[in-house]
Order: sequence, then C-alpha cells, then structure tokens
Amino acid sequence: MDYRLSRRMGEMRPSAVREILKATEQPEMISFAGGLPAPECFPVAEIAACAERVLAESGAQALQYAVTEGYGPLREKFAAEMRGRGVGGTRVENILVTSGSQQGLDLIAKVLLDPGDCVLTESPTYLAAIQAFQAYEARFAAVRTDAWGLVPEALEAAIVRERPKLLYVIPNFQNPTGITLAAERRRTIYELAARHGLVVVEDDPYGKLRYRGENIAPIAALDQAGIVLYVSTVSKTITPGLRVGWVAGHEKLLRSLGIAKQAADLHTSNIDQRIVDRYLTDFDGEAHIERIRALYGARFALMEQCLSETMPEGYEWTHPEGGMFLWVTSPEGVDAGAMLQEAIARKVLFVPGRDFFPDGPTTRSGERYLRLNFSNATEEKIRIGIGRLAEVAGQALAGVAG
Ligand SMILES: Cc1ncc(COP(=O)(O)O)c(C=O)c1O
Repeated sequence: MDYRLSRRMGEMRPSAVREILKATEQPEMISFAGGLPAPECFPVAEIAACAERVLAESGAQALQYAVTEGYGPLREKFAAEMRGRGVGGTRVENILVTSGSQQGLDLIAKVLLDPGDCVLTESPTYLAAIQAFQAYEARFAAVRTDAWGLVPEALEAAIVRERPKLLYVIPNFQNPTGITLAAERRRTIYELAARHGLVVVEDDPYGKLRYRGENIAPIAALDQAGIVLYVSTVSKTITPGLRVGWVAGHEKLLRSLGIAKQAADLHTSNIDQRIVDRYLTDFDGEAHIERIRALYGARFALMEQCLSETMPEGYEWTHPEGGMFLWVTSPEGVDAGAMLQEAIARKVLFVPGRDFFPDGPTTRSGERYLRLNFSNATEEKIRIGIGRLAEVAGQALAGVAG
C-alpha cells in the first residue's frame, strides 16, 4: 500500500538517538548514547507506596477523567517550585501540567507556529525539540553559541534577519553540549526578545542537577512582559516513566496551550499526577535529588578524568557544571559519524553530533562532535567504555594522519 502521508511527515526525520539505542541491546555494549537517568536512582518502593495510597484513598477519582490543566494540588506544588527557582509571582493559574516536558514543546509549537514560521535555537540543540517544531513545519535558524551559551550579538542579527516567532533555549547544562547560559546573557537575551516581540521557550529539565558552581535564576525570573514559557519535568528528578511535566507562563498563553492539550490527550494521566503529588507530599524529594546529584556528580568527575587520561591529543570536550552530557569535539578531518561504526564494533556507543544541528544534515557543521551521557553507566563501565572510545578516537586520528 502506498500510504499518502501528510506533507509535514516529509520534513520529519527519525530520531538518530532512538536508532542508536537499538544497538544498546547487544551483549557487552557500553552506552553513553541515551539521555537516560540511572535506574538505581528511581524511587521504586516509594512510588509503589504512593500508588497504593492513591488507590486506597481516592481510587475512583484517580481512575476517572480529569481537568486538562492538571491535578490542583500538583499544580500548586509546581507553582511553589517555580517560586523556589526564582520566578516569584507564579500562581497555580500559571501552571499547565503536561505529559512530560516534551508535550509542552509540542503544544507550544502547535499554538504559536504556522508553516514557515522561524524558530531560533542554539546550535546545536535538543534533537526532539527540532522534531517537535518540525511537525508544525517550522523553519529553523541556528544561533551561534560559545562556552557561555547563546551569543547575544549573533542572536540579535538572527532576529533582525529572520523575523522569528520563537526562541528555544536550554539555559542549564544544555542538551547536547552541557553548557550553561551565563547570567548576564540571560538578561540581554530576555531584553532582546522583549524588544522584538519574541516568545522565549525556556526548557529546563536539568536545572536541579548542578554538581558545581552557583545556581543561576531562569530567564523566566526576568519576565515582566509575559513572553517566557518555561518548561520543566519530573523526568530527571523522580522518574521519566510517569510522564509528568509542566509549562509555566502567562495565563493567556496557557489558556491556548490548554485548548491544544484538550485535542492532544484531554489531560495528563490522572493517576500518574496523583502519584507524583503524593510522592512530593509524603517523601523528601529534595533529599532524593541530593542523592542523584552525588551519584551523577561522581560519574561526571570520573568521565572527565578518564577522558583526560586516555583521549588522544587534539580531542576536546566541554566542562559542564551539571546535567547529563559532555560534548566532545574531534580534531579537524575526523568524522564522528564514521567513528560510530568502529565504536559499535568495539562495544561502546555515543551519539554523533550531526543530528543536533537544526540547519540539517546537509551542513558539515556537526561531523566533528560526539555527545556522551555520564548519568546512566556505572563507574566501572565508564572506565572501560572511555578506554574503548579512546582507542576508537586514536584509530580515527591515525586514519586522518595516514
Ligand atoms: C532538553 C530536553 N527537553 C525536554 C526533554 C523531555 O523530557 P520529558 O521526559 O519531560 O518529556 C528532554 C529529555 O531528555 C531534554 O533533554
């Protein structure tokens, strides 16, 4: 059957990460590819207790349809969380509970983008955000980044040139680079967006996972004009399996997002929201995050150390202050995509950088990059896996020199 798919499917690419993750099934494979939390950090017993309590105390309500905006007590908790993150005026009306923050991105695109509208992004940026925006036939303009994140001068030039509708930015421990947007740049970028009538989508799934340095207030904390939609999630701090996230922003925009959400899924799983709410009521969520930070911080430090001890001359990498990823740049002429085949043969996985560049695989911009995840593999696997990667890197370099 020759299915007549919609025009927008022509633009959509399968996620390279999902394809690569299939190779993780192979025996002996060590994967630094996915963005997976450490499974040993999941609060399994606590979630089981919460599920039991929810069903015992309010089983029928939990199994019923629910309002689109989200479970009231949970919205209250997310509003309080926003205030704790520095967004002082957040009230329950400013919160929409979503099915993961990924749904937040999808709904924002659905509500704000017409075909051909321009979205500005960091270069590189989060792959599944590119996919979400592509589904609404957006056009992308990638803005240059350096060690402090988006470069404001490049942003201003892109705003003037492209007349974008949205700016999508991941200020904390960015996916894929791990870089954090500097505080003064957050202000400059906010002011530029406000002056040019741009909506800022601030995606912050990793902000609580800081291993060194000081917290920086989100761009949303500066928002007087109601132009920032802040997106976050419990995926990295409790579990991604429950699919609970939120969007915080101006009531008017949230109303439109709510209408779009009705069409998408009516509401986020009622029972999952109540489980998360119970978890945050009955257990010490902050102490749990502290344990995650200790574990990931140690893995991160070990990966950095192994890289500096074993990687051949010419390879460089970012030095994030938190999150889950490192971003490696290979020497001129070494193609990370080609390296992946050899890496798979040696049983180590990473994600080549190419697909994180929203201007598409036709540019050569992404070929010198590798994204490494450090949250999921044990310390032993990090030691062995980085050793294997260094051998692959050495061989690739010798190939260029030869
Ligand atoms: C930058 C970024 N945004 C959004 C998400 C989606 O997270 P969620 O599980 O909340 O949908 C991820 C997941 O890895 C991410 O890295």
